[in-house]
Amino acid sequence: MLLGVNIDHIAVLREARKISDPNPIDALSIVKKSGADQITIHLREDRRHINDEDAKNIVRLSQLPINLECATSKEIIDIVCDLRPHRATIVPEKREEVTTEGGLSVIGEQLRLKESIALLHENEIEVSLFINPTIDSVEASKDLGVEWIEFHTGKYANIYAMLYSNLENSPHSIKSLELSRKELKKLLDDEIKIITSVSKRAKELGLRVAGGHGLNYQNVKDIANIKDIEELNIGQSIIARSVFNGLEEAIIDMRNLIS
Ligand code: PXP
Repeated sequence: MLLGVNIDHIAVLREARKISDPNPIDALSIVKKSGADQITIHLREDRRHINDEDAKNIVRLSQLPINLECATSKEIIDIVCDLRPHRATIVPEKREEVTTEGGLSVIGEQLRLKESIALLHENEIEVSLFINPTIDSVEASKDLGVEWIEFHTGKYANIYAMLYSNLENSPHSIKSLELSRKELKKLLDDEIKIITSVSKRAKELGLRVAGGHGLNYQNVKDIANIKDIEELNIGQSIIARSVFNGLEEAIIDMRNLIS
């Protein structure tokens, strides 16, 4: 199982102050040293975290392959073609969303996707589509000639959180349905079965299969056990844990300095 580490949230912290620290470039060598296989970044149209300069430097300096997530706007596709990362993952993007809320509607957007995929392929960039785990989306992706698909695991992660952590703020709509634990367990098992079977179908069609969104230290195991998924892209939970894992050393360094 390959691990792509999404480092967007390092830039989120920097943008909170609009200064240069922390710089996502400083993460490149640490991610590599830690045994990850890929760096994932998302150049959003509103540049809320990773900006053009970051993307340029990350592609130029990384010793690991770069998976650059992007929407299909002409401006962004032109930039990605110019940067030539190893892979571009096309994602749906809405300005008002906090994070990528679901997969692409591949059916119905084929024309726009086709144009973007052709431009990316002309620049020797392999293409992945971020889709919901449905057979229709998988087959439509295959027809578009992409190398990879990435399943949005957000629904799985939200059901998991509902079941095991009583999250009050779960954004998933099933919260309001007040389902019993038994019903939630069944929903979770069903979602794992769906992701497993669509991954199998994708693999049969010759697609490479990744997964990501909302995966964390509690819920990752069941997804990592799906044999036809060969890569997971994880951001929020890794960066969140790193804050606490590094906090003690950071305080000691400052304590020593001011003493
Ligand atoms: N994969 C894709 C395509 C994404 O858009 C994201 C979120 O930016 C992730 C993986 C990582 O999600 P998370 O930050 O929840 O781990």
